[in-house]
Amino acid sequence: MSGWNYWTKRDYYHKELRDRAKGLKDEMEAAKQIASVVESKSESYDSILDVGCGTGHFILSLEKKLNSQFKYLGIDITQQHIDDANEIFSANQNYKFEVGDIRDLKLDDKTFEVSICSNTIPHIPNIKKAINELIRVSKGDVFIRMLIGDEVLITKKALSDKFNELGEPEDFMYVNIYTKDFVKECIGDVGEMFVYDDVYDAEKIMKHYNEHKEIAGANIATRIVEGMQFKGCLMLPWKIVHIKIKK
Ligand SMILES: C[S@@+](CC[C@H](N)C(=O)[O-])C[C@H]1O[C@@H](n2cnc3c(N)ncnc32)[C@H](O)[C@@H]1O
Repeated sequence: MSGWNYWTKRDYYHKELRDRAKGLKDEMEAAKQIASVVESKSESYDSILDVGCGTGHFILSLEKKLNSQFKYLGIDITQQHIDDANEIFSANQNYKFEVGDIRDLKLDDKTFEVSICSNTIPHIPNIKKAINELIRVSKGDVFIRMLIGDEVLITKKALSDKFNELGEPEDFMYVNIYTKDFVKECIGDVGEMFVYDDVYDAEKIMKHYNEHKEIAGANIATRIVEGMQFKGCLMLPWKIVHIKIKK
């Protein structure tokens, strides 16, 4: 393992996402909220793109919340997640999954009514490219769950004790926070941008934390401290950025 893309090596997380997609676990608070904003804020949601989809587990929350059937394409850089998703959702022809990189989507312009990207932008470099790819392939509403704060913080969480000559970790995970202004500058004048507060049930998050702190490690699952979401020492100012693309 080396560099920032560490997803392929996490057996615990693969199982977690598989169980979620099979409905064996409670819905994620983030999935519930994304489904809710898709339902209430988008003009139409016949076709939904989910980038950084994991095993496609957000489908379950979308199915619960949306009033009509939708076509869904899930894209993820991790082959294992896509293999799992294809197996779990094989009975529904409306749902497709492909391996791909958010920074270079192999999709035509203006294809999807709704694009979602949850909990992925904080962990990748070059978010301008990623956000603009989401915008390029969308014709309606884009919803991005990401970390928005008062200042930009590029954070590397070291995954081993190996550091290079500059003192940078060799194996790491980004947990990056950007400002609203930076995101606005990234998107340019393609449409209107709104930022929604993260809505969550603190008890559900703590239930998940208490069930997972042993197996995942106390610094991996999210916990609530004085009403704020934390992962280890890091406070996570989750928000949903909504871009309504101009017609
Ligand atoms: C924290 S998980 C989020 C999964 C799901 N969206 C959720 O909110 O539970 C981040 C996902 O992004 C995927 N990912 C990481 N880098 C990516 C990239 N450059 N392009 C597409 N997917 C990526 C990972 O494989 C992983 O499944």
